[in-house]
Amino acid sequence: MKSLIRTLALLQRGIGNYIRKKPYCVSFEVTYHCNARCKHCHLGGLIEEHRAMPEIYGERCNQLRPVVAQVSGGEPLLRNDLERIIEALRTPNRAPYIVVTTNGALLTKERFRSLCKSGVDSYSLSLDYPDERHNEFRRVPRLFQRIQKLIKELEPEERNIITISCVVQRDNFRDLIAIAKLAKEWGVNINYSTYTWLRTKDKGYMLTKKDLAEFKLIVARLLDFRKRYKNLFATEYVFGRMIRFFENGFIPDCRAGQTFLIVNPDGTLSPCGLINKKYDTQEEIIQDFSRMNVCGDCNTSIRANSEKPARYLMRDNLWTLLK
Ligand SMILES: C[S@@+](CC[C@H](N)C(=O)[O-])C[C@H]1O[C@@H](n2cnc3c(N)ncnc32)[C@H](O)[C@@H]1O
Repeated sequence: MKSLIRTLALLQRGIGNYIRKKPYCVSFEVTYHCNARCKHCHLGGLIEEHRAMPEIYGERCNQLRPVVAQVSGGEPLLRNDLERIIEALRTPNRAPYIVVTTNGALLTKERFRSLCKSGVDSYSLSLDYPDERHNEFRRVPRLFQRIQKLIKELEPEERNIITISCVVQRDNFRDLIAIAKLAKEWGVNINYSTYTWLRTKDKGYMLTKKDLAEFKLIVARLLDFRKRYKNLFATEYVFGRMIRFFENGFIPDCRAGQTFLIVNPDGTLSPCGLINKKYDTQEEIIQDFSRMNVCGDCNTSIRANSEKPARYLMRDNLWTLLK
């Protein structure tokens, strides 16, 4: 549980941003370089890019004042100055709540602790299968074993700030309960995001209409699991939206650039991680992009969580903070 002062500060930032129409979540994609080549993602390998200094991300964070600062990529742990980036984003006892999203390949116990010392509040650790199939899907040898080893080396209170993040897709939806059970056994949390074909243009990982009856039964069991163990973050509302996305292939009224946005590796802004643009201010994004945006082709967790109605946003975030 976070301190009362911190919880109130995050709540105050959340209410303020709702009123001022500022983003709840900003994802700092600090590099597009990645050490994995995941089958559902277009990123991976070495690329030419300009990476901003940590202070530039700090300035962006002060301008945009999000409730949650997600540090992602590419693979953020490939930046040797990640600790300095976290320090630049952080204001002790205040918002933002800082989450590092990682594939875990470079996350040793020592790096985990050093990043926590810099100000990381939690880790979102990607895992798509409850076993070695994960290695082949991400094309990283022994990745599943490395994640398992790291988690077993950590203290229980350290494990409590890890959330396994699993992308729900056609070839793993029957494994979702096994992944939740594994997270429980490891003493970590679990969350689910929705596959989008926007990254690779591959619609083969989308659940089809035929899969949906079985998927709905699995969701009912996951919601039961959530009630019992309290380590599963996705709510009935989130799963309902996931089902709707797979049913219709579309969710209208995307608020990219408004309730969430991206800071690119070079410090410029994009409305979302799947539409790469270079803006200087949020006002420019709204003027030039958000007002005309009709895209509804994803339901990834940044979108799904930032577009929750205020009552769910408040309830779910308090649940996470007070857990
Ligand atoms: C792009 S990665 C970057 C951070 C880090 N490298 C990692 O793997 O967690 C962030 C998250 O996006 C997810 N992701 C990648 N491709 C996706 C897709 N097509 N649909 C939904 N989520 C996707 C990944 O599984 C990961 O959990």
